[in-house]
Amino acid sequence: MKNIIIVATGGTIAGSGKVGKATNYQAGKINIKEIIDSIPMINEVANLKAIQLFNVDSNEMNEEHWIILANKINDLASQKNVDGIVVTHGTDTLDETAYFLNLTINTYKPVVLTGAMRPASATSADGPINLYQAVCLASCDDALGHGVMAVFSSTIYSGRDIQKISNFKTDAFDQKDFGCLGYMNDDKVMMFSRTFKKHTLQSVFSEKPITELPPVGIVYYYAGAKPDILTMMAQNHRGIVIIGSGSGNYSQAWLNEIETLGAQGIIFVRASRVNQGIVYESDVFDPHNVCIPSNTLSGQKARVLLMLALSVTQNTKEIKRIFNEY
Ligand code: SIN
Repeated sequence: MKNIIIVATGGTIAGSGKVGKATNYQAGKINIKEIIDSIPMINEVANLKAIQLFNVDSNEMNEEHWIILANKINDLASQKNVDGIVVTHGTDTLDETAYFLNLTINTYKPVVLTGAMRPASATSADGPINLYQAVCLASCDDALGHGVMAVFSSTIYSGRDIQKISNFKTDAFDQKDFGCLGYMNDDKVMMFSRTFKKHTLQSVFSEKPITELPPVGIVYYYAGAKPDILTMMAQNHRGIVIIGSGSGNYSQAWLNEIETLGAQGIIFVRASRVNQGIVYESDVFDPHNVCIPSNTLSGQKARVLLMLALSVTQNTKEIKRIFNEY
């Protein structure tokens, strides 16, 4: 049997509330050992060891948690007798952690995130099946070299593209226009596709441990939004991700302010508030190439990549290349 480590960080999978109810509970309450004990057969899949690294609602996760988690996983993955790692995590910010780990983990071994939409105390809690299948995936040779993945509702997602699409249903995730990497049929892994974007061992950000990240903020564009929000954000951020309308668009007043702040050294990325499609270079909304298009990354994932990119270079052209490769 493979040796799999479960690193627990909290979330609804460790949530507790009124017995039987699926809503109005507290995330990050139950110890991972208790969750493992509630799953029949899980110990027949792999030799399991559990580490309770944090026990928080994922809205409490921040850059420091990401760095601690990445260092812990890199340390575990470097051990010969560890075959794979599962991370339990709240669903609210799972997409951000998954992408950060996908870029900073230095291993070909499977690293699989999972969580739950219903707390452990609910009727038909979804955490146990998700965790069971995450352990099955982390134990499977077909999962090697895919980068960081996530398992949810019997579906395998890539850490780059996973996004939360429902804040209510148990089938809460999707992978934009790209479908998914595969499915879980009970304990069986069925892989169908692979990402072309750089991750884990090919990622320049996994070459040495990250110790800190530069401040990058996100600003949301809406009809009538005043540009002063950009001016304020620029006061204490090195980079700004704009969640624009359509394909990363905004008003002329925003364009003027972006060009002014860009000339002062603020690095801008254009993402979109539309979930599907792509943000590409635009002669209309970025005529002087001040903004870097996020391609298919959501605003919050573009922020993760911009923080990492700014930790290795300040050059806009170089950061644009990074956004095309990752
Ligand atoms: C959280 O993200 O920690 C709470 C919500 C969830 O896990 O579904």
